[in-house]
Amino acid sequence: MHLKIAIVLAMVSSNVAYGLPGLGGNDHEFRKPGPNDYRSPCPMLNALANHGYLPRNGHNVSIDQLVNALDEALNVSPLSTRPVAELGATTSTTGNPTTLHLKDLAKHGVIEHDVSLSRNDIYFGNNLAFNPKIFAPVAKILFARDKISIETAAKARRARITAAAAANPTLNFTTSEDRFSQFESALYLGVFGTGTEGNAKSRWVEVMFREERIPYKEGFKRSAVVITNQDIVDLADKVAAAA
Ligand code: HEM
Repeated sequence: MHLKIAIVLAMVSSNVAYGLPGLGGNDHEFRKPGPNDYRSPCPMLNALANHGYLPRNGHNVSIDQLVNALDEALNVSPLSTRPVAELGATTSTTGNPTTLHLKDLAKHGVIEHDVSLSRNDIYFGNNLAFNPKIFAPVAKILFARDKISIETAAKARRARITAAAAANPTLNFTTSEDRFSQFESALYLGVFGTGTEGNAKSRWVEVMFREERIPYKEGFKRSAVVITNQDIVDLADKVAAAA
């Protein structure tokens, strides 16, 4: 019995010491959020919290933690993420202007906008949580093939814009929000695709949206080269042109 306890203790302490996933240290195992954890309208930030790249409780997340998590997990350039993280921090309700609760990002009209691919518009009450009904027609277009081309990404956005315009009497989708939304498509194409060519793996994108999980089990690996601000701008321009 004592020997068993000693072995378990040795395993725990070596996991902590060497940072193996599961017990401590660099714990990047996927775990669903608990009832007191905060999440955001961004599927990727939620996935990063679900893997412990961001605080798992989603409370008091700093600008630096956002920038570092996107670098560490995805190799997205801090030059591209820091301005967005700083803008995000203007929604903060933490009392500290350099931190935010993930739920703060649902504040409408800062980054959050109508016509999200996977969330309902604020007019209908919940602009934060993944909404399977909103996402179903989008998913049908996005995941029709095993890769998502730039044209397919643009087609999914068009379908969502048409559906939101028909459903929401208060729809407000400004030019700059349209641009933000092009950037969001550019981000998933850049992170899960090939350079600035698009062709994101459908299954990986689906895992991000539906499970808020990084698709390691499905073969995803952090990009070997940095995903630059220019890459994201190029992709966003291509999504816009394809519309
Ligand atoms: C500091 C960095 C980031 C911040 C502060 C941020 C924040 C947000 C916010 C507030 C939204 C909601 C917009 C809406 O109303 O639809 C959003 C959407 C989105 N974000 Fe992020 N994000 C960041 C980085 C990323 C990255 C690196 C990815 C990579 C895949 C990503 C993917 C997405 C996608 C795909 C959406 C659209 C969701 C939808 O339309 O349903 N984001 N983000």
